[in-house]
Amino acid sequence: MNPLATLRSRFATALATLTDELADSPAVLKLVEMVLPAKDAKLGDYQANCAMPLGKQLGKPPRDVAADLVAALDVADLCETPEIAGPGFINLRLREDWLVEQLTAASADVDRLGIAATETPRTVVVDFSSPNVAKPMHVGHIRSTVIGAALYRVLGFLGHEVISDNHIGDWGTQFGMIIYGYKHFVDEAALAAAPVAELSRLYKLVNQIGDYQSAKSEKLPALAEKIELARERVEDLKSAEPSGDAKQDKKAAKELRKAEAALSELEKEQADAKAKIADFESDATLAALATDHPAIGARALQETAKLHEGDAENRALWDRFLPKCLEEIEATYQRLGVEFDHTLGESFYQPMLAGVVDDLAAKGLATESEGAICVMPETMGLADNTAPFIVRKKDGAFLYATTDLATIQYRLGEWQPDAILYVVDHRQSLHFEQLFATAKQWGIDSIDTVELTHIAFGTVLGEDGKPYKTRSGSAVGLTGLLDEAVDRARSIADASPMLETDAERQQVAERIGIGAIKYADLAHNRTSDYVFSYEKMLAMNGNAAAYMQFSYARVRGIFAKAGVTPEAIRESGGPIVLNSPAERALGITLLQFAEALDRVAAEYKPNHLTAYLFDLASRYSEFFEHCPVLKAQTDELKQSRLLLCDLVARTIAKGLELLGIQTVERM
Ligand code: ARG
Repeated sequence: MNPLATLRSRFATALATLTDELADSPAVLKLVEMVLPAKDAKLGDYQANCAMPLGKQLGKPPRDVAADLVAALDVADLCETPEIAGPGFINLRLREDWLVEQLTAASADVDRLGIAATETPRTVVVDFSSPNVAKPMHVGHIRSTVIGAALYRVLGFLGHEVISDNHIGDWGTQFGMIIYGYKHFVDEAALAAAPVAELSRLYKLVNQIGDYQSAKSEKLPALAEKIELARERVEDLKSAEPSGDAKQDKKAAKELRKAEAALSELEKEQADAKAKIADFESDATLAALATDHPAIGARALQETAKLHEGDAENRALWDRFLPKCLEEIEATYQRLGVEFDHTLGESFYQPMLAGVVDDLAAKGLATESEGAICVMPETMGLADNTAPFIVRKKDGAFLYATTDLATIQYRLGEWQPDAILYVVDHRQSLHFEQLFATAKQWGIDSIDTVELTHIAFGTVLGEDGKPYKTRSGSAVGLTGLLDEAVDRARSIADASPMLETDAERQQVAERIGIGAIKYADLAHNRTSDYVFSYEKMLAMNGNAAAYMQFSYARVRGIFAKAGVTPEAIRESGGPIVLNSPAERALGITLLQFAEALDRVAAEYKPNHLTAYLFDLASRYSEFFEHCPVLKAQTDELKQSRLLLCDLVARTIAKGLELLGIQTVERM
């Protein structure tokens, strides 16, 4: 039961009669959205602010409109008589008998906590995680994996048909790099003993040499040139004669400061680059490899090209390496508790790509430009200055874009989805804008009705506000990240007198540590960047996983102390009593679980669920402070409070489960 949705639908009916619009018309829906949870609990539980804009619209005093609205509104079964306040606010207070009835139903509903499955289920494909395999997963993969998995679970719980598809990058340049590495640097014994580790060593080695070479041959000269220009600019500004005009001179001084800052920034960059180069060269073995393998990046690209052209040797190597790479990411997924219905990577679509380009060309959508085949912005219906969407390169190679078009066609044909969600870094926004625009023009079956949405997310930052990197400047590996969180969580577990065995402490540490990382990621609005901080994410108070897990364990502890099981309490049932304000507030918050879930699904934002859980835990704390449970005045009250406690525990557990976070019974 979603109280807000129920109220809104009642308002829609009433508003329709007042406005002569349909209850589901955009005009009515806009007004209906002004029915919201009350800001001030003293005034009511919900409030409707729509009489003011409606008054304007109808040319009537808003208070009169509010009165008409209340007269037309049928909420007697769930609310006390609505009150009109101020210029025309409508305050709504839920009836106690209605609350009790809903809570009793939620309490008795073991699996769904009283939350009905949607009446309008959709088939939704969630494309998430999707790493480029053959290189270790890093911190950047956390967000897509964790947010995608949470959306998948929430939508599924709400009754939608969800299909997860891990669109792995298994056909890209990184394979050229390991193939090159294999051909030149492999340690066969190591490969036999620990293939994943050896492949990742090869990838890193080729990458490292390539980075060094391009730093030396491209980055440094480019920087030197920029520094030269920046220096000239500083000199010019310095040598300019004062104009005598105070305002003008102030402006000039400011410009000089800006130019000097830009110069010193560039010099810092140069010093960093030089230090990295020196560091690399100080390793004689590496330096020798770099000399023996000039332009390694280009050579690795050639290996990729050979693979794509069907070269037998490279194909055989790919066939041999891919399963190892999948094993590696699988280990991470297991640790994160993530599974996929499908893992159809880029390689799967290769046989379809020529057909995609031909079809686009035949329909006049793709045209040739400087030898490449692309879709022009006007064809996509995008602004003129948008880059063309290239589907085949001059050398005949297909691209990420081509694969994604084939993927849409395949998904539509195979699963007939109502929506496809792409949980991918915001830096790929342009790609998805072009992809969706092209696909919509393409005219393939059911493309007109399918929702295509890029669920974009921001970057994980370090404490310095820059993308989170290791000290040496490479991306932080996911495995190490998880290990460190668990290590740190271990000290929380070690400090708990409740945990008896080492195994129990380690299990709790694992759940707290991994939970902390996931929760921190989910609790931030996905569209913003966030700073990765172990201290904050492992905090025992505030909106963090450990606090939620602790809240859960604390509620469960009451049952242990009382020596009864929640099942037995549910079995005996009994009336739920909402006598005190803290009980009532807790009861309402419990019923708002459905509201939070619906909001997650409507906006594709899991942070609405973390915010809800945090709110619930706070309400519970207030309740716990004011309402003795085991020492309640009467047995009836004790039973009612235990029922509420049980519902709190199950709501937290269900909420965390949907976010992919495990609970612990004691901590
Ligand atoms: N493999 C891509 C990357 O790592 C992400 C793929 C996202 N999904 C998609 N259908 N494009 O950047």
